Amino acid sequence: MKIAIINGPNLNLLGSREPDLYGSTTFEAYLEELRKAFPELELSYFQSNVEGELVNHIQQAGAAADGIVLNAAAYTHTSVAIGDAVKAVKAPVVEVHISNLATREPFRHVSHVSAGAKGVIFGFGLSGYALALQSFLQD
Ligand code: DQA
Repeated sequence: MKIAIINGPNLNLLGSREPDLYGSTTFEAYLEELRKAFPELELSYFQSNVEGELVNHIQQAGAAADGIVLNAAAYTHTSVAIGDAVKAVKAPVVEVHISNLATREPFRHVSHVSAGAKGVIFGFGLSGYALALQSFLQD
């Protein structure tokens, strides 16, 4: 099963960015752990700080992969285009956020992604990505 992990803006800074909220592990290091923990999955990874690049990649992965794990980061709360892309693609999308959005600012309680997502996972730190991968194996 091919799963595309897609991260949005500022998630390239994981490890050094607001570690109290997002932890001190880089995504690259965590990805190694995911690959070891899920040898039965073919994982691809894409990160961009650019909204249109994320839309392009969701479209590509939506056709080529069996599932998408998407943390659109701040674009979650602002991007109608990313929300539309999630609704448009064939592959199911699991929305992930590292932090617990419900405990944060009200603008983070709005998601343009959730309505098109198969499910949403937030508040479990980086482990949320593993939970999302697990959800694909349970189908
Ligand atoms: C985030 C939450 C967003 O509100 C924030 O803009 C991020 C990361 C998370 O994973 O907790 O960049 O998506």
